[in-house]
Amino acid sequence: MNIAVIEGDGTGPEVIKEAVKCLDAVCQRFKIPLNLEYFPINGTRYLSTGELLSDQEIQTLRNKTAILLGAIGHPDCPPGVLERGILLKLRFSLDLYINLRPVRRYASVSTPLKSNDPFDYLVIRENSGGLYTGVGGRSMVNTPHEVAMESMVYTHAQVDRCVRFAFDMAQQRSQDTPWKGLTEIERQQGYRGKVTLCGKSNVLTHVYALWNRVMDEVKLDYPHIITDYVHVDAMCIYMIECPHRFDVIVTENMFGDIITDLAAVTQGGMGVASSANINPNGVSMFEPIGGTAPDWTGKNQINPMAAIGAVQLMLSHLGHVDAATTLEVAKQHALSQMSSMLAGQMGYTTTGVGDLVVNAIPI
Ligand code: IPM
Ligand code: MN
Repeated sequence: MNIAVIEGDGTGPEVIKEAVKCLDAVCQRFKIPLNLEYFPINGTRYLSTGELLSDQEIQTLRNKTAILLGAIGHPDCPPGVLERGILLKLRFSLDLYINLRPVRRYASVSTPLKSNDPFDYLVIRENSGGLYTGVGGRSMVNTPHEVAMESMVYTHAQVDRCVRFAFDMAQQRSQDTPWKGLTEIERQQGYRGKVTLCGKSNVLTHVYALWNRVMDEVKLDYPHIITDYVHVDAMCIYMIECPHRFDVIVTENMFGDIITDLAAVTQGGMGVASSANINPNGVSMFEPIGGTAPDWTGKNQINPMAAIGAVQLMLSHLGHVDAATTLEVAKQHALSQMSSMLAGQMGYTTTGVGDLVVNAIPI
């Protein structure tokens, strides 16, 4: 595996160090040859050289097996510069059109939800279109007549490839947990093989007519998958009150951005939420959902579990199933140790958590 590592800014390098430690350990265990190349793509470089992300860097990244990213952001940069110039440029230029974000309740991780019922679902966030395309603009700036626009743009092809990916995921997951013989109600209550479209068809009538059309078309090719529709505002209720009703949620870019922060909190916070930016036909990029956390930088206190989870998603995406499963088991073991450390008021450190995971990987 030739892995490109972009540590980024803030706590990015700290969490990536632990993630790489785990990647190293698991690759040794499964004899997977591993080459890492570090890329100094970050806000600090931009502030000193003006360089964001060069075409040459994109070309080099394109030929890697995968990309591991920490976090990009700098308090001295105006909003949007690094986001558009680095993170979104990576997503768009490498056509990472799926943003897959698993949401899972680990028994040992405390969450603000009252119920201890388990849940385990995926959010498939469309990652190449919508409000993120930058279609729009301002005119008559600084006059009382100023106009500002930002458009939600989708093509049939974009929606189709995203929805098909979601159905494929539901199909795969239903093979793990058979639903056959269950009643519709039982299936609605959280068995596998279900795709929920999250939208706002009552207001965004154009864009969601397209998404609904595609859902109907794709459904014909997946007769065993059941489908469901939930408005994005109601989604925020169900994610808190009955998250176990979801299997695979598919949604447009901005809604996906928003609901996955809520989802991250329900599973224990940004410290444990990981994300995969996938191009099924090219290189993919794996990252923790959280940002650079400037207040926590350099304190050895940030939780690296989300970055370690990103490595697990990477291994699983690349087909290293045994390595991914081993890392997942080690992660769960470490999470339960962390919860007893917290219960004993001992706290934990960034490097300490990395060590817990590495030590839980059998040699
Ligand atoms: C995320 C982030 C990014 C997004 C920002 C930093 C551009 O919030 O990965 O969820 O909006 O996609
Ligand atoms: Mn976000």
